[in-house]
Amino acid sequence: ARLPGLLRAMPKAELHMHIEGSLEPELIFALAQRNGVALPYADVESLRAAYAFTNLQSFLDIYYAGASVLLTEQDFYDMAMAYLERAVADNVVHTEIFFDPQTHTARGVAMAHVIQGLHKACVDAEKRWGISSQLILNFLRHLSEEEALQTLEEALPYRAYFSGVGLDSSEVGNPPEKFARVFTRCKDLGLRRVAHAGEEGPPAYIWGALDLLHAERVDHGVQAVHDDALMQRLRDERIPLTVCPLSNQKLQVFPDLADHNMPQLLAAGLVATVNSDDPAYFGGYINENFVQLFAATGMHSEQAYQLAANSFEASFVPASRKQAWL
Ligand code: ADE
Ligand code: ZN
Repeated sequence: ARLPGLLRAMPKAELHMHIEGSLEPELIFALAQRNGVALPYADVESLRAAYAFTNLQSFLDIYYAGASVLLTEQDFYDMAMAYLERAVADNVVHTEIFFDPQTHTARGVAMAHVIQGLHKACVDAEKRWGISSQLILNFLRHLSEEEALQTLEEALPYRAYFSGVGLDSSEVGNPPEKFARVFTRCKDLGLRRVAHAGEEGPPAYIWGALDLLHAERVDHGVQAVHDDALMQRLRDERIPLTVCPLSNQKLQVFPDLADHNMPQLLAAGLVATVNSDDPAYFGGYINENFVQLFAATGMHSEQAYQLAANSFEASFVPASRKQAWL
Protein backbone atom coordinates (compact mmCIF):
# COMPACT_ATOMS: atom_id res chain seq x y z
CA ALA A 1 0.00 0.00 0.00
CA ARG A 2 2.98 2.33 0.55
CA LEU A 3 4.55 1.58 -2.84
CA PRO A 4 2.62 4.22 -4.87
CA GLY A 5 3.63 6.84 -2.30
CA LEU A 6 7.30 5.86 -2.64
CA LEU A 7 7.07 5.91 -6.44
CA ARG A 8 5.55 9.39 -6.44
CA ALA A 9 7.83 10.86 -3.77
CA MET A 10 11.19 9.55 -4.95
CA PRO A 11 13.43 12.03 -6.78
CA LYS A 12 13.85 11.06 -10.42
CA ALA A 13 15.14 12.25 -13.80
CA GLU A 14 12.98 12.19 -16.93
CA LEU A 15 14.91 11.41 -20.12
CA HIS A 16 12.27 10.73 -22.78
CA MET A 17 9.55 13.34 -23.10
CA HIS A 18 8.57 15.11 -26.30
CA ILE A 19 7.58 18.65 -25.38
CA GLU A 20 4.97 18.71 -28.18
CA GLY A 21 3.50 15.61 -26.51
CA SER A 22 2.92 17.56 -23.30
CA LEU A 23 0.39 19.86 -25.01
CA GLU A 24 -2.87 19.22 -23.16
CA PRO A 25 -6.12 19.58 -25.18
CA GLU A 26 -7.06 22.65 -23.12
CA LEU A 27 -3.79 24.38 -24.07
CA ILE A 28 -4.17 23.30 -27.71
CA PHE A 29 -7.55 25.07 -27.87
CA ALA A 30 -6.30 28.12 -25.95
CA LEU A 31 -3.35 28.53 -28.36
CA ALA A 32 -5.58 27.90 -31.39
CA GLN A 33 -7.81 30.75 -30.24
CA ARG A 34 -4.87 33.05 -29.41
CA ASN A 35 -3.29 32.43 -32.84
CA GLY A 36 -6.42 32.16 -34.99
CA VAL A 37 -5.58 28.59 -36.03
CA ALA A 38 -8.51 26.41 -37.15
CA LEU A 39 -8.64 22.90 -35.70
CA PRO A 40 -10.49 19.91 -37.21
CA TYR A 41 -12.11 19.28 -33.79
CA ALA A 42 -15.06 21.18 -32.33
CA ASP A 43 -13.93 21.20 -28.71
CA VAL A 44 -11.65 19.70 -26.06
CA GLU A 45 -13.91 16.68 -25.59
CA SER A 46 -14.00 15.69 -29.26
CA LEU A 47 -10.23 16.11 -29.52
CA ARG A 48 -9.68 13.90 -26.47
CA ALA A 49 -12.12 11.36 -27.93
CA ALA A 50 -9.78 11.02 -30.94
CA TYR A 51 -7.00 9.74 -28.65
CA ALA A 52 -7.70 6.07 -29.42
CA PHE A 53 -4.53 4.78 -31.05
CA THR A 54 -3.83 1.49 -32.83
CA ASN A 55 -0.11 1.97 -33.48
CA LEU A 56 2.62 4.65 -33.58
CA GLN A 57 1.48 6.24 -36.87
CA SER A 58 -2.14 6.63 -35.73
CA PHE A 59 -0.79 8.65 -32.80
CA LEU A 60 1.70 10.71 -34.83
CA ASP A 61 -1.03 11.96 -37.19
CA ILE A 62 -2.94 13.51 -34.25
CA TYR A 63 0.23 14.67 -32.47
CA TYR A 64 1.38 16.69 -35.50
CA ALA A 65 -2.12 18.19 -35.87
CA GLY A 66 -2.02 19.29 -32.22
CA ALA A 67 1.40 20.91 -32.68
CA SER A 68 0.03 23.10 -35.50
CA VAL A 69 -1.22 25.67 -32.95
CA LEU A 70 2.37 26.57 -31.91
CA LEU A 71 3.49 29.75 -33.66
CA THR A 72 5.24 32.25 -31.39
CA GLU A 73 8.14 32.16 -28.95
CA GLN A 74 5.58 32.73 -26.19
CA ASP A 75 3.69 29.59 -27.27
CA PHE A 76 6.82 27.45 -26.88
CA TYR A 77 7.57 29.11 -23.53
CA ASP A 78 4.03 28.51 -22.22
CA MET A 79 4.04 24.87 -23.35
CA ALA A 80 7.38 24.17 -21.68
CA MET A 81 6.49 25.97 -18.44
CA ALA A 82 3.30 23.92 -18.16
CA TYR A 83 5.30 20.70 -18.53
CA LEU A 84 8.06 21.77 -16.14
CA GLU A 85 5.57 22.71 -13.42
CA ARG A 86 3.91 19.32 -13.86
CA ALA A 87 7.30 17.54 -13.73
CA VAL A 88 8.19 19.32 -10.48
CA ALA A 89 4.91 18.06 -9.00
CA ASP A 90 6.08 14.51 -9.81
CA ASN A 91 9.44 15.11 -8.04
CA VAL A 92 11.40 15.19 -11.28
CA VAL A 93 14.62 17.02 -10.37
CA HIS A 94 16.21 16.85 -13.83
CA THR A 95 14.66 16.51 -17.30
CA GLU A 96 16.03 16.12 -20.83
CA ILE A 97 13.37 17.48 -23.15
CA PHE A 98 12.95 16.43 -26.80
CA PHE A 99 11.71 18.92 -29.34
CA ASP A 100 10.87 18.48 -33.06
CA PRO A 101 11.94 21.70 -34.83
CA GLN A 102 11.00 20.46 -38.31
CA THR A 103 7.34 20.20 -37.26
CA HIS A 104 7.45 23.96 -36.75
CA THR A 105 9.96 25.31 -39.28
CA ALA A 106 7.97 23.53 -42.02
CA ARG A 107 5.05 25.83 -41.08
CA GLY A 108 7.21 28.96 -41.26
CA VAL A 109 8.05 29.24 -37.55
CA ALA A 110 11.58 30.55 -37.00
CA MET A 111 14.09 28.19 -35.38
CA ALA A 112 14.99 31.06 -33.04
CA HIS A 113 11.45 31.24 -31.67
CA VAL A 114 11.27 27.49 -31.06
CA ILE A 115 14.59 27.17 -29.25
CA GLN A 116 14.56 30.47 -27.38
CA GLY A 117 11.02 29.96 -26.10
CA LEU A 118 11.91 26.51 -24.77
CA HIS A 119 15.25 27.68 -23.37
CA LYS A 120 13.76 30.62 -21.49
CA ALA A 121 11.22 28.31 -19.85
CA CYS A 122 14.03 25.98 -18.74
CA VAL A 123 15.91 28.92 -17.20
CA ASP A 124 12.84 30.31 -15.42
CA ALA A 125 11.76 26.86 -14.14
CA GLU A 126 15.18 26.26 -12.60
CA LYS A 127 15.03 29.67 -10.88
CA ARG A 128 11.48 29.14 -9.66
CA TRP A 129 11.46 25.44 -8.72
CA GLY A 130 15.08 24.20 -8.84
CA ILE A 131 14.49 21.68 -11.66
CA SER A 132 17.40 21.41 -14.12
CA SER A 133 16.88 20.69 -17.80
CA GLN A 134 18.56 20.13 -21.12
CA LEU A 135 17.06 20.31 -24.60
CA ILE A 136 17.56 17.54 -27.18
CA LEU A 137 16.80 18.36 -30.84
CA ASN A 138 15.10 15.45 -32.59
CA PHE A 139 15.23 14.90 -36.35
CA LEU A 140 12.06 13.54 -37.98
CA ARG A 141 12.95 10.21 -39.55
CA HIS A 142 10.06 10.25 -42.06
CA LEU A 143 11.84 13.20 -43.73
CA SER A 144 15.12 13.01 -45.65
CA GLU A 145 18.66 13.14 -44.29
CA GLU A 146 19.22 16.30 -46.37
CA GLU A 147 16.40 17.96 -44.42
CA ALA A 148 17.95 16.79 -41.15
CA LEU A 149 21.34 18.25 -42.17
CA GLN A 150 19.64 21.53 -43.12
CA THR A 151 17.82 21.59 -39.77
CA LEU A 152 21.09 21.03 -37.93
CA GLU A 153 22.68 23.99 -39.74
CA GLU A 154 19.68 26.20 -38.86
CA ALA A 155 19.99 25.21 -35.21
CA LEU A 156 23.75 25.65 -34.82
CA PRO A 157 23.51 29.39 -34.01
CA TYR A 158 21.65 28.19 -30.87
CA ARG A 159 24.14 25.40 -30.11
CA ALA A 160 24.54 26.65 -26.52
CA TYR A 161 20.87 25.90 -25.83
CA PHE A 162 20.75 22.19 -26.70
CA SER A 163 22.99 19.41 -25.49
CA GLY A 164 22.22 16.70 -28.00
CA VAL A 165 20.22 15.29 -30.86
CA GLY A 166 17.79 12.42 -31.30
CA LEU A 167 15.69 10.69 -33.95
CA ASP A 168 11.93 10.25 -33.74
CA SER A 169 8.68 9.88 -35.75
CA SER A 170 7.73 6.90 -37.96
CA GLU A 171 10.21 4.11 -37.19
CA VAL A 172 9.44 1.14 -39.42
CA GLY A 173 10.68 1.82 -42.97
CA ASN A 174 12.99 4.61 -41.79
CA PRO A 175 16.03 2.69 -40.48
CA PRO A 176 18.96 4.33 -38.69
CA GLU A 177 21.31 4.01 -41.69
CA LYS A 178 19.24 6.73 -43.40
CA PHE A 179 20.72 9.22 -40.88
CA ALA A 180 24.31 7.96 -40.47
CA ARG A 181 25.92 11.07 -42.01
CA VAL A 182 24.02 13.65 -39.95
CA PHE A 183 24.65 11.80 -36.68
CA THR A 184 28.36 11.45 -37.46
CA ARG A 185 28.46 15.19 -38.04
CA CYS A 186 26.68 15.74 -34.71
CA LYS A 187 29.25 13.55 -32.96
CA ASP A 188 32.07 15.58 -34.52
CA LEU A 189 30.35 18.75 -33.20
CA GLY A 190 30.41 17.33 -29.67
CA LEU A 191 26.64 16.83 -29.45
CA ARG A 192 25.25 14.00 -27.31
CA ARG A 193 23.26 11.37 -29.28
CA VAL A 194 20.10 9.38 -28.63
CA ALA A 195 17.69 7.66 -31.03
CA HIS A 196 14.29 6.02 -30.94
CA ALA A 197 14.89 2.37 -31.83
CA GLY A 198 13.10 -0.88 -31.14
CA GLU A 199 9.76 0.73 -30.25
CA GLU A 200 7.92 -1.05 -33.08
CA GLY A 201 11.03 -1.76 -35.17
CA PRO A 202 13.30 -4.83 -34.99
CA PRO A 203 16.49 -5.34 -32.95
CA ALA A 204 18.47 -4.55 -36.13
CA TYR A 205 17.37 -0.91 -35.75
CA ILE A 206 18.88 -0.86 -32.23
CA TRP A 207 22.18 -2.23 -33.54
CA GLY A 208 22.06 0.46 -36.23
CA ALA A 209 21.37 3.21 -33.68
CA LEU A 210 24.46 2.15 -31.72
CA ASP A 211 26.87 1.43 -34.58
CA LEU A 212 25.79 3.96 -37.23
CA LEU A 213 24.26 6.80 -35.19
CA HIS A 214 26.69 6.52 -32.24
CA ALA A 215 23.68 6.63 -29.92
CA GLU A 216 24.58 6.82 -26.22
CA ARG A 217 21.04 5.94 -25.13
CA VAL A 218 18.25 4.05 -26.86
CA ASP A 219 14.73 5.53 -26.68
CA HIS A 220 12.23 2.71 -26.06
CA GLY A 221 14.43 -0.27 -27.08
CA VAL A 222 11.91 -2.75 -25.70
CA GLN A 223 12.27 -5.02 -28.77
CA ALA A 224 15.85 -5.77 -27.67
CA VAL A 225 14.59 -8.78 -25.70
CA HIS A 226 14.27 -10.68 -28.99
CA ASP A 227 18.07 -10.64 -29.52
CA ASP A 228 20.30 -12.23 -26.88
CA ALA A 229 23.56 -10.79 -28.26
CA LEU A 230 22.04 -7.31 -28.22
CA MET A 231 20.84 -7.73 -24.63
CA GLN A 232 24.37 -8.73 -23.63
CA ARG A 233 25.85 -5.68 -25.34
CA LEU A 234 23.36 -3.26 -23.75
CA ARG A 235 24.13 -4.72 -20.34
CA ASP A 236 27.92 -4.91 -20.76
CA GLU A 237 28.23 -1.35 -22.15
CA ARG A 238 25.59 0.01 -19.76
CA ILE A 239 23.68 1.62 -22.64
CA PRO A 240 20.47 2.98 -21.11
CA LEU A 241 16.97 2.34 -22.45
CA THR A 242 14.42 5.13 -21.93
CA VAL A 243 11.23 3.09 -21.65
CA CYS A 244 7.72 4.59 -21.72
CA PRO A 245 5.16 2.14 -20.28
CA LEU A 246 1.89 4.01 -20.88
CA SER A 247 3.03 4.92 -24.40
CA ASN A 248 3.75 1.24 -25.10
CA GLN A 249 0.31 0.32 -23.82
CA LYS A 250 -1.61 3.02 -25.72
CA LEU A 251 0.27 2.36 -28.99
CA GLN A 252 -0.40 -1.39 -28.63
CA VAL A 253 3.25 -2.41 -28.21
CA PHE A 254 2.09 -4.07 -24.96
CA PRO A 255 -1.72 -3.76 -25.09
CA ASP A 256 -1.89 -5.13 -21.55
CA LEU A 257 0.50 -3.34 -19.20
CA ALA A 258 0.76 -6.56 -17.19
CA ASP A 259 2.72 -7.99 -20.15
CA HIS A 260 5.26 -5.13 -20.21
CA ASN A 261 8.84 -6.41 -20.28
CA MET A 262 10.32 -3.90 -17.83
CA PRO A 263 10.76 -6.62 -15.16
CA GLN A 264 12.70 -8.68 -17.73
CA LEU A 265 14.89 -5.72 -18.74
CA LEU A 266 15.81 -4.98 -15.12
CA ALA A 267 16.38 -8.67 -14.29
CA ALA A 268 18.78 -8.82 -17.25
CA GLY A 269 20.82 -6.01 -15.67
CA LEU A 270 19.99 -3.31 -18.22
CA VAL A 271 20.02 0.39 -17.34
CA ALA A 272 16.30 0.79 -18.06
CA THR A 273 14.37 3.91 -17.03
CA VAL A 274 10.70 4.95 -16.81
CA ASN A 275 9.52 8.00 -18.78
CA SER A 276 6.30 9.56 -20.06
CA ASP A 277 6.99 10.03 -23.85
CA ASP A 278 3.89 12.12 -24.69
CA PRO A 279 2.05 12.51 -21.38
CA ALA A 280 -0.86 14.60 -22.67
CA TYR A 281 -1.73 11.86 -25.17
CA PHE A 282 -1.00 8.65 -23.26
CA GLY A 283 -2.91 9.19 -20.03
CA GLY A 284 -0.33 10.35 -17.55
CA TYR A 285 2.90 12.04 -16.53
CA ILE A 286 5.92 10.16 -15.18
CA ASN A 287 4.48 9.24 -11.78
CA GLU A 288 1.39 7.78 -13.43
CA ASN A 289 3.75 5.65 -15.56
CA PHE A 290 5.52 4.40 -12.44
CA VAL A 291 2.36 3.71 -10.44
CA GLN A 292 0.46 1.93 -13.22
CA LEU A 293 3.51 -0.10 -14.33
CA PHE A 294 4.23 -1.32 -10.80
CA ALA A 295 0.56 -2.13 -10.13
CA ALA A 296 0.26 -4.10 -13.38
CA THR A 297 3.54 -6.04 -13.20
CA GLY A 298 3.85 -6.54 -9.45
CA MET A 299 7.31 -4.96 -9.22
CA HIS A 300 8.55 -3.92 -5.76
CA SER A 301 10.46 -1.16 -4.00
CA GLU A 302 13.88 -2.60 -4.98
CA GLN A 303 13.01 -2.02 -8.63
CA ALA A 304 11.73 1.47 -7.77
CA TYR A 305 15.10 2.36 -6.28
CA GLN A 306 16.90 0.77 -9.26
CA LEU A 307 14.83 2.78 -11.76
CA ALA A 308 15.45 6.07 -9.96
CA ALA A 309 19.21 5.35 -9.77
CA ASN A 310 19.19 4.32 -13.45
CA SER A 311 17.55 7.62 -14.42
CA PHE A 312 20.38 9.60 -12.87
CA GLU A 313 23.10 7.33 -14.26
CA ALA A 314 21.57 7.56 -17.74
CA SER A 315 21.30 11.36 -17.70
CA PHE A 316 23.72 13.66 -19.51
CA VAL A 317 24.61 15.70 -16.41
CA PRO A 318 28.32 15.92 -15.46
CA ALA A 319 29.64 12.98 -13.43
CA SER A 320 30.28 15.19 -10.41
CA ARG A 321 26.59 16.06 -10.13
CA LYS A 322 25.53 12.45 -10.72
CA GLN A 323 27.58 11.39 -7.70
CA ALA A 324 25.52 13.66 -5.45
CA TRP A 325 22.28 12.06 -6.72
CA LEU A 326 23.45 8.45 -6.49
N1 ADE B 1 7.28 11.38 -31.44
C1 ADE B 1 6.61 11.59 -30.30
N2 ADE B 1 6.46 10.44 -29.63
C2 ADE B 1 7.07 9.48 -30.36
C3 ADE B 1 7.25 8.08 -30.21
N3 ADE B 1 6.79 7.41 -29.14
N4 ADE B 1 7.90 7.41 -31.17
C4 ADE B 1 8.36 8.05 -32.25
N5 ADE B 1 8.21 9.35 -32.45
C5 ADE B 1 7.57 10.07 -31.51
ZN1 ZN C 1 9.35 9.09 -27.87
